[in-house]
Amino acid sequence: MYVCICKAISDQDIEEAVNEGLEDLSAIQTHLGAATGCGTCVEHTQQVIEETLARKLVYAA
Ligand code: FES
Repeated sequence: MYVCICKAISDQDIEEAVNEGLEDLSAIQTHLGAATGCGTCVEHTQQVIEETLARKLVYAA
């Protein structure tokens, strides 16, 4: 599902980026371009980042 319509970034794109080490909004914005257009998706982008980080912690434990 697209999270950022402006940049055509999906939740899967964000999850992959977080799993590769881009672990905050700023890094996702810089490297994927997500949440750098109209700004509508900032909250949802942050949510996907946090959910992915939580899963990483569970799997690492
Ligand atoms: S929908 Fe992501 S910046 Fe517009």
